Amino acid sequence: MNAAQIKLVQDSFAKVAPISAQAAVLFYDRLFEVAPGVKAMFPADMTEQRKKLMATLAVVVGGLSNLEAVLPAASALAKRHVSYGAKPEHYPVVGGALLWTLEKGLGDAWTPEVAEAWTAAYRTLSGYMISEAYGSIQAAE
Ligand code: HEM
Repeated sequence: MNAAQIKLVQDSFAKVAPISAQAAVLFYDRLFEVAPGVKAMFPADMTEQRKKLMATLAVVVGGLSNLEAVLPAASALAKRHVSYGAKPEHYPVVGGALLWTLEKGLGDAWTPEVAEAWTAAYRTLSGYMISEAYGSIQAAE
C-alpha cells in the first residue's frame, strides 16, 4: 500500500464512522447471506460483536501508516480466531462482505481508486493474520 492509498482508506473510513452502527448491521447481514454456514459461529446477540468489529477496524485503519504498531494486536486477534473456528478460506468471504458494505455506505464516494485501496488494505491485513494463525499466506484475498 502506498501513502495515497492509506489516505484513501482513512478518509473513506472516516465517512462511514458516523453510520458505523448501521454499517456493522449491514456487514453481518451480508456475511450471513453469502456464507450462511458461519452464522452459528457467532453469538446470538450480535450487539457487542458489531461494536468490537468497528472499533478494531478503526484501530487498524488508524494504524495503516505505522503498521508495525498494530501487527502484534492483529496477530493476537488472528490466533483468537482459530478458536472461533475461523479458517483461512473465510477471510476472503469476510473481505468481500466488508468491501460490499463500504460500497453501500459510501455511495458515490466508492470510486475505483477507493475500492483498490481497500482491497490492498484487506489483503495486507488478512494475509498477515492468516500467516500468523495458520503459518501461510494462502487465500489472502
Ligand atoms: C480482518 C478480518 C477480521 C477482523 C478485523 C475481525 C474482528 C473481530 C473482533 C474484533 C472480534 C471480537 C472478539 C475478539 O477480539 O477476539 C471478532 C470475533 C469473531 N470473529 Fe472476527 N474478524 C475478522 C475475520 C473473521 C473471519 C474470517 C471469521 C470467520 C468466519 C471471523 C469470525 C469471528 C467469530 C465467530 C467471532 C465471535 C467469537 C465469539 O464471540 O464467540 N472473523 N472478530
